[in-house]
Amino acid sequence: MSPVSSRRSRPRRPDPADSTAHAPPARLFPPPHWPLLPRLRRPFRAVFLPRRLCGGAAAAAMLRPPRRLPRPPRRAATAATGPGRRLLLSTPIFYANGPPHIGHLYSALLADALHRHRGLRGAGPGRLSTGTDEHGLKIQQAAAAAGTSPPELCQRVSGLFRQALTQAAVSFTDFTRTSEPRHQRAVRHFWGALRDGGSLYKGSYEGWYCTPEECFLPESQLTERRDAQGRPCKVSLESGHQVHWTKEENYMFKLSAFRDPLQKWLQDNPHAISPDPFYQCVLRWLEEDLPDLSVSRERSRLPWGIPVPSDSTQTIYVWVDALVNYLSVVGYPETHGEWWPAAHHVVGKDILKFHAVYWPRIFVHSHWTVHGQKMSKSLGNVIDPFACIGQYTLDGFRYFLLRQGVPERDCDYYDEKVVKLVNSELADALGGLLNRSTALSINPSNTYPCFSESCFPKVLDYRGTKGMGRASAEDYEFVASVASLPLQVASYFEGFQIYKALECIALCVRQTNGFFQRHRPWKLDRKDPAEQLWLDTIIHVTLECLRVYGTLLQPVIPHTADKLLSRLAVEPEERGLSSLTFLPRYHGKPCPFEGRQLGPDTGILFHRLEKSGRHQIETKKL
Ligand code: MSP
Repeated sequence: MSPVSSRRSRPRRPDPADSTAHAPPARLFPPPHWPLLPRLRRPFRAVFLPRRLCGGAAAAAMLRPPRRLPRPPRRAATAATGPGRRLLLSTPIFYANGPPHIGHLYSALLADALHRHRGLRGAGPGRLSTGTDEHGLKIQQAAAAAGTSPPELCQRVSGLFRQALTQAAVSFTDFTRTSEPRHQRAVRHFWGALRDGGSLYKGSYEGWYCTPEECFLPESQLTERRDAQGRPCKVSLESGHQVHWTKEENYMFKLSAFRDPLQKWLQDNPHAISPDPFYQCVLRWLEEDLPDLSVSRERSRLPWGIPVPSDSTQTIYVWVDALVNYLSVVGYPETHGEWWPAAHHVVGKDILKFHAVYWPRIFVHSHWTVHGQKMSKSLGNVIDPFACIGQYTLDGFRYFLLRQGVPERDCDYYDEKVVKLVNSELADALGGLLNRSTALSINPSNTYPCFSESCFPKVLDYRGTKGMGRASAEDYEFVASVASLPLQVASYFEGFQIYKALECIALCVRQTNGFFQRHRPWKLDRKDPAEQLWLDTIIHVTLECLRVYGTLLQPVIPHTADKLLSRLAVEPEERGLSSLTFLPRYHGKPCPFEGRQLGPDTGILFHRLEKSGRHQIETKKL
């Protein structure tokens, strides 16, 4: 239900970052009104992930009423920067018109992994918000099609999302439903601020409206098809959904006045949108026209939404309503200042424009396709996350989505891929390593054995190590790569490249297996004191590696990581990232784990998966 001028909408250009036909559509939406909020009039600066994700003045600036155009970006108030500061992270709020699928889950898992990672770094209080987007024509029509009322449909679907996120161990702290009174109150206040700031005017509006995409589309994004009755009709090029000519009076937002300041702000804040191809994409959009936006619909056509304050003939555009969730969740208009402007949002590429033109600090991800096809109800290929979690286990499926999902490109889903990846990296490589290095046959005392400096002496240049100890140049190389892993992983998380962080960990796990295999500790004669020293050192190094992997994997596979760390007797307070050290004995420092009794053996770390059928959502679920 988001009226956007079809006559003046910009044509969509293919996006080089886009590997499939799902380029972000040229859709616009009205911006929020930070400049109208006294506490937000200062420029933004991000708190979390400071290097890559700085917010900036332009977000605030461009949202000021046109009469008060922005000042140049300034450095943020220190209250919003630096370690130990608050951060609001968010997932998009999900449309309550159908059950969750793996694409939704992916958005949520990315945000969850960032939230957990940040918590482990001891980075200060954080919140992870999520919820359901419950207003608009799309929901109104879905309810009619399901023979129910919008509130009933929303109640049911919102419950399914909450259940899916909980089941997937998404550590959300807040769940907003846009039908809640506290949210509606925030939206009304927000609208009033836009109006009072002089950003709204009433105008006549017409164009081709696409309900599933909740926006108007220009001719350049349409094509001709035949409908079910064989009559010619127009459909969206991107989604294939039919569009309808819509003409009405509604409120317009003076967006055009904000193009230049927004462009400047984005140029000054190149890390506001990650990854970079999406940032470039937004800059290109802004080189084109930025027309004023229609931000309301006639209430007679769209009763399911929040009425425009003091004009009950109009309903507020669903995107205005939805975006305000990032404020209402933190108590807008009263207490949001405790959390804003330090807010970062994870969004899929299809909704980038709705966010990025106005909202700073955006992490964008691509989509999941299924066997090379777009996932859609009409194609009947929607993948059910509940079934996947049931089949592949929670951690197995979380690992798969986060390890295999590449934000810059669409990723293709098929069941065999999950089984292969999870079996090889979690069950065989990681689980096998733990199993082998803690086996009673090799470590009968069931302790964290001692490290011997004479076997693995510290050297400045490992290429000249011949004859000094038992460790080879390859071992030194491997230990160096594990030592650099925590920093590498942190920087990949900061750059919203969780898949790369996992790739590095997987590589190190492989190297550790290589190290263990190379030295065949099971062949060493423990009656010989020299051999015993080397045997203990091999196990010590291996357990140190496992401890690092378990710690780093907590944001992604929380249950498996917990099991691994418990087996290594790592106490809860020893699992943070800020205090993570690796092989301190190599540097002549004490290792608190040395000599410690290992935790109980609770069995195989990760059971191998069996292949199963596909997990499509049954439409009868709704
Ligand atoms: N309600 C809006 C968001 C409003 S936020 C103020 C919406 N909802 S959605 O349910 O359609 O999508 C929610 C998220 O799921 C988006 O980030 C979207 O990109 C993501 N995905 C939907 N399909 C997807 C795939 N096939 N693959 C990966 N993510 C996908 O948009």
